Amino acid sequence: MSIMITSRELRQKYLEFFASKDHKILPSASLIPENDPTVLFTTAGMHPLVPYLLGEKHPEGKRLTNIQKCIRTQDIDEVGDARHDTFFEMMGNWSLGDYFKKEAIEWSWEFLTSPKYLGLDASKLAVSVFVGEDENGIPRDEEAADIWKSLGMAEEKIVYLPRKNNWWGPAGQTGPCGPDTEMFFWKGESEFPPVGSNPGTDEDNWLEIWNDVFMQYNKSEDGQYKPLVQKNVDTGMGLERTLVTLNGFIDVFQIDTFWPLIQKIEELSGREYIENSEVTKSMRIIADHLRTATMIMGDDKQIAPSNVDRGYIVRRLVRRAIRHGRLLGIHENFCDKIAVEVIEIFKDVYSELERNQEFVMLELAKEESKFRNTIEQGMKEFEKLLNGFRIAFEKTGKNVTEISGKQAFKLFESYGFPLEMTLEMAQENSLTVDVNNFEESYKIHQGLSRAGAEQKFKGGLADHGEMSVKYHTATHLLHATLRQVLGSHVEQRGSNITAERLRFDFSHPEKMSDDQKKQVEDLINYAIQQNYKVSFAEMTVDEAKNKGAIGLFEDKYENKVKVYSVGEPDVMPSATINSQTFSKEICGGPHVEHTNIMGKFKILKEEAVSSGIRRIKAVLQ
Ligand code: ALA
Repeated sequence: MSIMITSRELRQKYLEFFASKDHKILPSASLIPENDPTVLFTTAGMHPLVPYLLGEKHPEGKRLTNIQKCIRTQDIDEVGDARHDTFFEMMGNWSLGDYFKKEAIEWSWEFLTSPKYLGLDASKLAVSVFVGEDENGIPRDEEAADIWKSLGMAEEKIVYLPRKNNWWGPAGQTGPCGPDTEMFFWKGESEFPPVGSNPGTDEDNWLEIWNDVFMQYNKSEDGQYKPLVQKNVDTGMGLERTLVTLNGFIDVFQIDTFWPLIQKIEELSGREYIENSEVTKSMRIIADHLRTATMIMGDDKQIAPSNVDRGYIVRRLVRRAIRHGRLLGIHENFCDKIAVEVIEIFKDVYSELERNQEFVMLELAKEESKFRNTIEQGMKEFEKLLNGFRIAFEKTGKNVTEISGKQAFKLFESYGFPLEMTLEMAQENSLTVDVNNFEESYKIHQGLSRAGAEQKFKGGLADHGEMSVKYHTATHLLHATLRQVLGSHVEQRGSNITAERLRFDFSHPEKMSDDQKKQVEDLINYAIQQNYKVSFAEMTVDEAKNKGAIGLFEDKYENKVKVYSVGEPDVMPSATINSQTFSKEICGGPHVEHTNIMGKFKILKEEAVSSGIRRIKAVLQ
């Protein structure tokens, strides 16, 4: 297969182009959002930037660009066709209250059409803009349309579409959002689009490749659209789709961040990708799911397969891949062999993968061995179910088409079949599953609400409400205090904040004593009463380290970060801990300005999460 442009070249071109327009290049943020209880994974390039879109100052300035690792799982059941995937890379550029529609559109156009960059044929491009909403006082976007016209876009190739198409965000209930303009490339049968064809009249023949969002509103809790303090631009261009377009592929699995995986699966199974549609589908599912699982597990937050939250997603992905491997005749452990390829493909771009390779290999092998111990028996159990239905039909003429919740739960509990896998197998046999009933058994036995996990899984953005901000500052105080009381081996391993409580995971080998818990509470309440000022300074990661800041050092060295301090020495009474700043931590914010508005800190629970990791749940009263 001859590749005309590789993923490496495309990433480089994008970043170079926006660097030439004075944008600072940021590294990809983690796939696991910090302090955002409403989503499991980072879903867009703007996601880690929400505080800055709302008006906080970004240490790298007002023009930013990056390639962000993203996961969207809403369409996971569609994976297997030629275009759906669950992990993707989003190329993006941002203006934080700097340039607006004119520059954003002109630069998108230049990057798409200039021979120096993508060199796409302008006659094969079309765009959509927002049609406007009188009831919300949001005008028809003639401004964007006029800019497109000034660049030579034919009027009939500019289509005005409603909210469903041309509005982006907030992903959660509240937050930054705005109208967008989307760019499409012709993918119809004919070489050129017929006159009059556009993404409104001829949706199936146009592929969306880029979205420029004009984030100038903040949707508030009462559903109103209030102008943001600044007008932002948030753009997102999917790397995978763009590679498909540029290389004239019809199948996303042909791109170079997928194709070596397909080849490896062909080798392991002795089957051919295009043998028949079922084989192709299974190979796509395996390639997609193990690529995504490897990216999640190989993140610096190291997520292992489990039965809750992100770990459950990883488990579902891996076990579904194993079942499809089995359909292709692979009966021995193979997931780690695919993961090695995934790491090889991405390690130059996302260096954390190499750092975490050992963890990924070990956990995948463990998970696969565990599942292989039960999958054969589980499949037999499933066959027995089908047989039972058949026999009952022959005897009574009554056609049972539903697997009961109890049966599905047995497959889960005894054989490790995620519900979604049972659903898929049921569907293949024209059966349904009593999911409500399953959830009842599941909740009772696991003490977990699957609905809760699913809700998070679907995505949404953080609530930056007042309480969350207080809990965020409390989390910094807790982190610092735990290091003070237990020792400097304490490191953050996870954080989750809701409007009701904070949850903090950290490394520590044993249960905390009652005395230690009391010391922690007392010190934090002392800091709150002292009414310390919370402030931040911008510096390089190196400077932050030298100043003794704690936190996740995941940014590259040349990048600037924000360091939040609670209680700078000049406002600290000399009697306090080492007469140093109470807490100094790398973080994007937001935080309270002074600590005395936080209330009283109380630990509700201290427990083990896994070996060497403890969890504290605490409230502010
Ligand atoms: N945030 C926008 C998107 O994801 C750019 O499409």
